[in-house]
Amino acid sequence: MSSYIITPPAEVKGTVEISGSKNAALPIITAALLPDGATTLTRVPHLSDTKFMQEIISILGHDCSWDDNQMTIIPASRPITDPPMELMSKLRASFLIMGPVLAKYGHIRIPYPGGCKIGARPIDLHLKGFSAMGAELCQGHGYVEATCNHLEGADIYLDFPSVGATENLMMAACLARGITNIENAAAEPEILDLAEFLMQCGAEIEGAGSDRITITGTDHLSPCQYEIIPDRIEAGTFLAIAAAAHGHLDIQNIRPAHLKPMTAKLEEMGVNLTIEEKSIEIDASAPLSAVDIKTLPYPGFPTDLQPQMTALLSLSKGTGIVVETIFENRFMHIPELVRMGANIKVDGRTAVIDGVSGLTGAEVRATDLRAGAALTIAALSANDATEIIDIEHIERGYENFPEKLNKIGISVYKK
Ligand code: EPZ
Repeated sequence: MSSYIITPPAEVKGTVEISGSKNAALPIITAALLPDGATTLTRVPHLSDTKFMQEIISILGHDCSWDDNQMTIIPASRPITDPPMELMSKLRASFLIMGPVLAKYGHIRIPYPGGCKIGARPIDLHLKGFSAMGAELCQGHGYVEATCNHLEGADIYLDFPSVGATENLMMAACLARGITNIENAAAEPEILDLAEFLMQCGAEIEGAGSDRITITGTDHLSPCQYEIIPDRIEAGTFLAIAAAAHGHLDIQNIRPAHLKPMTAKLEEMGVNLTIEEKSIEIDASAPLSAVDIKTLPYPGFPTDLQPQMTALLSLSKGTGIVVETIFENRFMHIPELVRMGANIKVDGRTAVIDGVSGLTGAEVRATDLRAGAALTIAALSANDATEIIDIEHIERGYENFPEKLNKIGISVYKK
C-alpha cells in the first residue's frame, strides 16, 4: 500500500504535457482485435489500466507489444475466448473485449465485471444489445457466455446513454450482417475517437458523437495506425490543480473543445483562461467564487471531474451545490475532504459545500481514481503536508503523475 506525501507548494507554475486518454485507449485496444493484421496505436498512456488490458488480450493469445507510448496489436486466428477471472477482475473495462471477440470469433465467456466503489456498474444494456444482434446468452455462476454464428444488425435503444454499452455494441456491429442503429447512444469524445479508429479500419459508421449511431456491418476490417486523443479528464484535473493553488499553468497537447463544461465553470468561478487550438493557459491568481455543478452525460459536466470540482469548491468563497446524477455512490472523497477541514454536507446525490479559507494536512485514503485526484487538489491548499494512501487508484489513470506535479512546483514524495 503506497502513499504520496504532498507538501503545500509555494507556487504552482509551468507547463503540463497531457497524455493520451485512458478512456479512449481502453476501447480502442480491444477494437484492434477486429481487423486482421498489425494495428499500431500511438499515444497510449502507461497506466495500470492499460497494462492490465495488454495482459488480458495477450493471455487470450493475441500479440500485443508496447514500446514507450506505442502499442502494436496482432489478433490471433484461433485465440482462447474465456479469459481467467482473476485477471479480468483487475480491470472493469475488460468487459469491452466482449463486443470485438464475440463479433469476430463467435464465442466469449467472461466474468461479470462486478461493481466498484462508485456504483453497481450493471451490464444489462450491453447484454440487451448483444441479444438483439442475435447472440445466444447464458448467464450464471458469475459468468456470462455468448455465442453466435454471425451477429445480425439490429435497432437498439439504450435506456441510459451508457459509454461502455455504446462502445461494445458499436464494435460488435462493425462485423455484423446488416445495419445497426444505436438510439440514445453516449456522445462522449471517447466514443467519437473509437468510431474514428474503426472508420480508419474500413468500418461504415454515421452519427458517432450524437445520440443516434448507425453502423453498416462489413465482413472484414483492415489494420491501421492511429493516435489516441488527449485525456480530457487529466487536463481538467490539472486545471483544477492550478485553480486550487492560485497558480499559472500552460496545459498543452489537448483538445480544448472536449473541456468546455470544465472551462465554462472555471471562468464562472473567476479564473482567467487563454484558450488556443491545442492548449489552455490558466491564471488563477484571483479568489475563487463558488458555483453549482450537476453531472450529466456529455456534453454535460463530466462525472469524472466531479470529485476534483468538489475539492475546489471546498476552497472557494460561498456555497456550491454538487449533484451527481451518473453514479449512485461517487461521494466517497467527501469524508476524506471533511477530515482535512472541508465543510460539506451530503444528502443522497447532492452535496452542499461551504467554502473554507484553507484546509489542514491529514492522512487520507484514495478510495477510487478520481477521489485520489480530488485529495491531491485539496492537499495543495492545506497548512501542512498531507499523506494520501492507496495511491494505486491514482496510478490507474494518471501517467507519470508525481513527475508531472513535481515539474510544476508541487513536491510529491512517494512512500
Ligand atoms: C465509462 O464507464 C468511463 N470508463 C468512466 O470513467 C466514466 O465515469 C463513465 O463512462 C461515465 O462517463 C471508461 O471509459 C473505461 P457507463 P462506463 O456505462 O462505461 C449505468 C474513470 O474515472 N449503466 O456510461 O462503465 C451505470 O450504472 C471512469 O475514468 C446501466 O445501468 O460508464 C451508470 O450509472 C470511472 N446499465 C451509468 O450507466 C449498463 O448496462 C454510466 O455508466 C451500463 C451502464
